[in-house]
Amino acid sequence: MTDKYVAAIDQGTTSSRCIVFDQRGGIVAVDQQEHRQIFPRPGWVEHDAAEIWTRVQSVVDGALERAGLRADELSAIGITNQRETTVLWDRATGEPVHHAIVWQDTRTSQLCADLGGDAGQDRFRDRTGLPLASYFAGPKVAWLLDEVPGLRQRAERGEIAFGTLDSWLIWNLTGGTEGGGHVTDVTNASRTMLMNLESLEWDQSVLDAMDVPAAVLPEIRSSSEVYGTAVGRLSGVPVASALGDQQAAVFGQTCYGVGEAKNTYGTGSFLLLNTGHRPVPSRNGLLTTMGYRLGNEAPVYCLEGSIAITGALVQWFRDQLGIIDDASQIEGLAASVDDNGGAYIVPAFSGLFAPYWRSDARGVVTGLTRYVTKAHLARAVLEATSWQTREVVDAMYQDSGVEITSLKVDGGMTANSLLMQHQADVLGVPVIRPVVAETTCLGAAYAAGLATGVWSDLDELRSHWQRDAEWTPAMSEEDREREYKNWHKAVERSFGWQE
Ligand code: G3P
Repeated sequence: MTDKYVAAIDQGTTSSRCIVFDQRGGIVAVDQQEHRQIFPRPGWVEHDAAEIWTRVQSVVDGALERAGLRADELSAIGITNQRETTVLWDRATGEPVHHAIVWQDTRTSQLCADLGGDAGQDRFRDRTGLPLASYFAGPKVAWLLDEVPGLRQRAERGEIAFGTLDSWLIWNLTGGTEGGGHVTDVTNASRTMLMNLESLEWDQSVLDAMDVPAAVLPEIRSSSEVYGTAVGRLSGVPVASALGDQQAAVFGQTCYGVGEAKNTYGTGSFLLLNTGHRPVPSRNGLLTTMGYRLGNEAPVYCLEGSIAITGALVQWFRDQLGIIDDASQIEGLAASVDDNGGAYIVPAFSGLFAPYWRSDARGVVTGLTRYVTKAHLARAVLEATSWQTREVVDAMYQDSGVEITSLKVDGGMTANSLLMQHQADVLGVPVIRPVVAETTCLGAAYAAGLATGVWSDLDELRSHWQRDAEWTPAMSEEDREREYKNWHKAVERSFGWQE
């Protein structure tokens, strides 16, 4: 039997990656390239979607070259992506009409407050599972249609397409202006705030309220099916999956049973709990969102705790403060002291997401004395990730009654043992990392391989999962609760800042 290969494209917030997997879910080759982060004003974050498409093509070439494979040796290609980031493009020319507005961008805060009106932040929560927040795509589309001269008229005439990055890539991969498919999957659609979580269709009442014309919207499909066949360098390869990156990580971590959860540590961190075939409403600041849908099978839902800034705080420490030259140096610097010296950093750079949803929050550093050094601050940077995770784990328990007994983790920051130990300490449960920590790409590859017969079922995928490392809690209950109180005091100080 000749081996089969599946490629996955992970179009993330800071970089695009392509990984080629073999039939056992092992990594054959990786290529990765960063793209520009554009900050036109405080709180605004943009990407150039055309640049991203160029980077994606390049990493696909790079990964195939490193794997020593030709495109026709791929059984399928799957896509996973930063979610919510919003692209509008001209269907005739294929050109984006504006920079993509990134999920972290806060320019729609006022628009969201206005949309909430007397009904408040939860006006659309019963239909979409989401609070009104600048994070989601729908208000970004509305902003672009209002602000770019003439765009609304062109959109109403059907000349403009909207997509999150999955749609943009699938459209380009399958032919672009020469007949590319304009589709998205349920997981990405569930982050627009425009999809009804029960019907899995665009919700006309929300479209009307946000004044978004249906003519711009992609068709909503499952997360695992053949959307079309690639043209160009991947000519003939079925494009067979799309999942938002956090949902792809759920799939790659094989969290297929109710009550299974994972946390992915990237630019931000996103903890998702599988709640089965029914959406579970949240009363504690979590999101109700899609987990995945395989072809025509019943959809799987999740509760999600979204944390906007975790890894990005390390980048900020490196790039804006210049205290370290390389992100990997933070572990050594933090380990050179025993504790945070009393300092806490709340990285509310894009407001605070779960469980607070406060767009008026801004970053704060608390507890400074002359004793505090850059090493203590390095610790506070790392600890901000674990405390924010603790908060969403608490909310998850309050919403679902499911007590997490261990946490599966993945993503770049899980290479940092000091952080993972602190995570286990503040949660009081073991933290477990799988051998293939690239679960986002793996999940997209799995979904694409299921749709094209590379793998037969979920049990086969589960059999690939292997434990690599485990951290067990070592902090006393007393220390944990005292520090958690300090964290909460710091969070309160981040509220109430004006632009
Ligand atoms: O919701 C935003 C999330 O999908 C971004 O993920 O890994 O690109 O930071 P990442």
